[in-house]
Amino acid sequence: MAAVSKRLLVSDLVTVDKINQVPSNYIRPLSERPNLRHVSSHETIPIIDLHDLNSPKRCHVINQIRDACREYGFFQVKNHSVPESTITNMMQIAKDFFNLPEEERLKSYSDDPNKTTRLSTSFNIRTEKVANWRDFLRLHCYPLEDYVHEWPTNPSSFRAHVKEYCTSVRGLALELVEAISESLGLERDYIGKQLGKHGQHMALNYYPPCPQPDLTYGLPGHTDLNLITILLQDDVPGLQVLKDGKWVAVDPVPNTFIINIGDQIQVLSNDKYKSILHRAVVNCDKERISIPTFYCPSRDAVISPAPEFVTEDQPAVYRPFTYGEYYDKFWNRGLATENCLDMFMATKST
Ligand code: OGA
Ligand code: NI
Repeated sequence: MAAVSKRLLVSDLVTVDKINQVPSNYIRPLSERPNLRHVSSHETIPIIDLHDLNSPKRCHVINQIRDACREYGFFQVKNHSVPESTITNMMQIAKDFFNLPEEERLKSYSDDPNKTTRLSTSFNIRTEKVANWRDFLRLHCYPLEDYVHEWPTNPSSFRAHVKEYCTSVRGLALELVEAISESLGLERDYIGKQLGKHGQHMALNYYPPCPQPDLTYGLPGHTDLNLITILLQDDVPGLQVLKDGKWVAVDPVPNTFIINIGDQIQVLSNDKYKSILHRAVVNCDKERISIPTFYCPSRDAVISPAPEFVTEDQPAVYRPFTYGEYYDKFWNRGLATENCLDMFMATKST
């Protein structure tokens, strides 16, 4: 049997130890493996052109967003407001960061999910039984001035490029939050007003090549706990989305972002829109980088189903909670596979 790895980061198992077998702590039981041959590549998630979002044709775009949210919980956007150079610089700086020597990267290492800037590995190594083939740098990035001083200073242009990127992506997030609000039939500013002072986190995900990609995951199936996620991926495939019980691959399209509904939209919409399971698989020969922005409420914001969606026939599915409470539960729950939303259901009074 393969040995259990002693390195903190999976990237160093690959580049320093040059392993040619997956260590046993990364191997999933047979019934939980990715089954890569059973992934649909015929279907993909819709691409929505945002060019007309601020034109008289806005309602067409809103309708496309509504259909995509109902049918997939996922869509891609093109002609968005984030400049190509901002995206290119962000991707390059992420690559440069993960190519730093091990001791340099480990300066940011922590396994404490409460830290607002940290490099870690897998998903949540304090609670999970099987590890995942991923290293990640997680950053809080709104309000910027509260966090930027914590970020890495190596590579030397890291802070400048990431600042530019997350400021620009926040603009896109605000446009999308308004559009999603409208697509639900709510006031354009309804959702934005529920988010307190607002929050924004991001992750730089690094998936090294894996000698046995059939045995493990970059990230196993999960939903995102935040409001919406705006994912940038490089040109290596790996993301898959669950659609009608089947995993569908979302192959990279240059200069598009992948948007998905997170748990907080599911709550605010009282289950009209669902937070969809997705996962990242790895491959034998290429590293992969993905950069999700998690747009979210601030910790003190109280989240509950919008009154418009609560009637006698359709009672509130969830009880009110603060985002801080949800966030802490999400990171501390025993198993990453347990659905966090289930822990916030309204108790039935019968
Ligand atoms: C995530 C995520 C997908 C990917 O970080 O929550 O779902 O393709 N990432 O890396
Ligand atoms: Ni995710």
